[in-house]
Amino acid sequence: MTDDVPTLRRIRSFVLRQGRMTHGQNRALEELLPRYAVPEGPIDFAELFGRDARHTLEIGFGDGHNLAELARRHPDQDFLGCEVHRPGVGRLLLDLESDHLGNVRVIADDALPVLRERIADCSIDALLIYFPDPWPKKRHHKRRLVQPDTAALFARKLRPGGTLQLATDWEDYARHALEVFDGCPGLRNRAADGGYVPRPPERPETKFERRGLKLGHQVFDLVFVKA
Ligand SMILES: C[S@@+](CC[C@H](N)C(=O)[O-])C[C@H]1O[C@@H](n2cnc3c(N)ncnc32)[C@H](O)[C@@H]1O
Repeated sequence: MTDDVPTLRRIRSFVLRQGRMTHGQNRALEELLPRYAVPEGPIDFAELFGRDARHTLEIGFGDGHNLAELARRHPDQDFLGCEVHRPGVGRLLLDLESDHLGNVRVIADDALPVLRERIADCSIDALLIYFPDPWPKKRHHKRRLVQPDTAALFARKLRPGGTLQLATDWEDYARHALEVFDGCPGLRNRAADGGYVPRPPERPETKFERRGLKLGHQVFDLVFVKA
């Protein structure tokens, strides 16, 4: 057992609100999920995709717009997404099918046990967390995806030189993530001044980013590199 086990098991970073599922999303989950899902057990990326390529994990991909767009732009790379919100998973599956994207696999489950139990250390090139649930109330801060123990887990799974990328439109969360990642041995801030980085031009705009911008929120980008 590792130190991160109790927190990861007990406190969830999400609440399962299934929301309304369209007919298309339902069909996608039934018919397409088996095609894009990942077999149980340890994840061997080379075996999963049938090639050795750069691989990226996105945690909480929402409706999957970002993941599908990255997969379209980078057919030479492979992508794995974890999301618990099933309508969002269905939405992504429809895009994967319509755009014939063969370089994405999907896990409709909590990313933390997947990372801890099924993904080898030093095996991920990029880990993306875009607009994580902000949990703004102080008593809910413990539910935030970014915590000292999860940051250590993210760092452990990245290969040396791999990147941890986070964006949020909640300033308080941005400050929190900065502090937590700064305090994580093995992670180094890519921003020269130790703060936020300019918006990476290659980062597609996400649904929650658009929502935040409409509300007049500022967006904060963080990029940390595994030493
Ligand atoms: C605010 S939404 C952002 C979605 C998307 N990244 C975007 O920017 O539009 C956060 C998402 O993270 C998902 N999530 C939170 N904790 C998660 C976890 N431990 N594993 C997988 N998904 C998670 C939620 O279900 C939700 O869809």
